[in-house]
Amino acid sequence: MKSRPVLEFNGIPALGLGTYPLSGLDCTDTVKMAVALGYRHIDTAQMYGNEREVGAALKTCGIARDQLFVTTKVDPSNNGKARFSDSVKRSIDDLGGPADLLLIHWPPPDAEIDATLDLLKAEQLAGRTRRIGVSNFTSRMLRQAAARLPDVACNQVEFHPLLDQRGLKQAADELGLPLVAYSPVARGRCFQNAVIRAIAEKHKRPPSEIVLRWIVQQGVVAIPMTTKRDHAVSNLNIFDFELNAEEMSAISGIGSASGRTINPSWMSGRWHD
Ligand SMILES: NC(=O)c1ccc[n+]([C@@H]2O[C@H](COP(=O)([O-])OP(=O)(O)OC[C@H]3O[C@@H](n4cnc5c(N)ncnc54)[C@H](OP(=O)(O)O)[C@@H]3O)[C@@H](O)[C@H]2O)c1
Repeated sequence: MKSRPVLEFNGIPALGLGTYPLSGLDCTDTVKMAVALGYRHIDTAQMYGNEREVGAALKTCGIARDQLFVTTKVDPSNNGKARFSDSVKRSIDDLGGPADLLLIHWPPPDAEIDATLDLLKAEQLAGRTRRIGVSNFTSRMLRQAAARLPDVACNQVEFHPLLDQRGLKQAADELGLPLVAYSPVARGRCFQNAVIRAIAEKHKRPPSEIVLRWIVQQGVVAIPMTTKRDHAVSNLNIFDFELNAEEMSAISGIGSASGRTINPSWMSGRWHD
């Protein structure tokens, strides 16, 4: 392996493997392949229905569990007091032990955010996760989370060159919290972009490596999903080169507010604060 993702942001390995929409043996085999290639950070969620398969991979991959970093997320349907804790108990049963990072997957209605953050904290105090964090929180919600839970570890959000997330990144920087980039290659949509292709040609690297390098070089964790061995190798191969300031800002200028891949109905009208 040319380069290993030894870099961490706030204790979170800078490059991880996403597991949506993997299922069954495909999921277990892909996670084991990634670990064998040097991945130490795996991202799953209750919503993906694959925590058991991820757990099976962790158990049989040959790397000690304390060398691996596993994130899972509480499904929105479990956000209320009646279901939150039982759902996390099921998750850690399936994963074979406590998570390294447990996230609120999607923000509940505004009036329930503080109560949900308190439920998250209770899971950490009960030893079911080492760290806690949030996902898909806006700047305002992130400030609220950090005020309620000073040890909130990250905000996992859609982050790639086609989506302008500079406001959210600035809010996270001000709070001293890393973002974790989901859909970091925009599910392949950014590979055709002319600016990215020109920079890729200059560096003699595929566009995917340029995009992932642009993400981690600004202190953002990336969790690309791939089932292909050569893509998994390539996605890790971003720690031995740098983009210059001009290249970084050219890529940062591509994004727009309408570049979102994932926009569920329950976030309608809620992204802009
Ligand atoms: N918190 C949330 O709400 C949330 C939402 C969405 C996703 N996520 C997490 O983020 C992870 C990643 O996001 P995502 O799966 O939506 O999008 P993504 O990682 O941007 O895109 C995945 C797609 O990109 C392709 N790809 C990956 N590396 C490549 C490479 N080097 N060259 C060419 N193609 C490549 C993969 O195809 P191949 O298999 O052919 O390589 C796959 O089709 C998910 O798996 C999940 O764990 C979280």
